[in-house]
Amino acid sequence: QGRSDYQLPLAGRTVTISAGGTREPLDPVRFLGNRSSGKQGVALAVAARNAGASVRLLAAHMEVPPPAGVEVVTVETALQLREAALAAAADSDVIIMAAAVADFRPAEISDTKIKKRDDTADPVITLVRNPDILQELVELRDGAQRTQLIVGFAAETGDGQGDVLAYAEAKLRRKGCDLLVVNHVGTDKVFGQDSNSVVILARSGSEPQLASGTKSEVSGAVITRIGFELNHVSP
Ligand code: CTP
Ligand code: CA
Repeated sequence: QGRSDYQLPLAGRTVTISAGGTREPLDPVRFLGNRSSGKQGVALAVAARNAGASVRLLAAHMEVPPPAGVEVVTVETALQLREAALAAAADSDVIIMAAAVADFRPAEISDTKIKKRDDTADPVITLVRNPDILQELVELRDGAQRTQLIVGFAAETGDGQGDVLAYAEAKLRRKGCDLLVVNHVGTDKVFGQDSNSVVILARSGSEPQLASGTKSEVSGAVITRIGFELNHVSP
């Protein structure tokens, strides 16, 4: 697009970033949640803002405050995040799904507090699948023939069935996003921590790129890569 080198890499771009973890209510006082702190998403928002982008942060539950200079849309559940993300997609050059989205939600939400009772069996929570927002964003973009860079995040532990990279490659293909930023997690690693190390996988098939350091340094590397994809790779 003829951007000069002295311009910031994301100048004039609108970047939507989801951050934190969704909470799925069971009753008015209880929810199913996850351990995402929101630090990675917030660090990405700062890096994108500093790269010159207009940043919209779709904030699910976060343990850290949102940064200055970004638009914040607060959401609670995966369904609310989906609404916000699909709405934001219309005018976004980049969408980064850094939020930990609950894969399932309680099938029923009680209007009143669930009481423990001695005269009935212990309750069983039935869960239903939440929509895959990242996958829907890709379908929406392709249907509208929009030029938009869509970035997913994946936390993988690896297990007896496969290693971290094998799972991540399969996830990238399944989701159809352009870049997948992969975290290798153990129970004490990554969540709530200030530093981590990631591998950036690209659908284009270019070599996996390693980035490590603080969440701020990792975010800088992810945003630099996004800038490169927008300014040198996309039409
Ligand atoms: N994601 C999403 N909607 C969901 C679940 C996940 O948009 N319902 C996004 C996340 O924000 C992340 C990416 O998809 O960017 C990968 O999330 P992850 O939980 O690793 O993928 P899943 O497909 O849910 O696979 P898994 O069974 O490993 O949890
Ligand atoms: Ca998941």
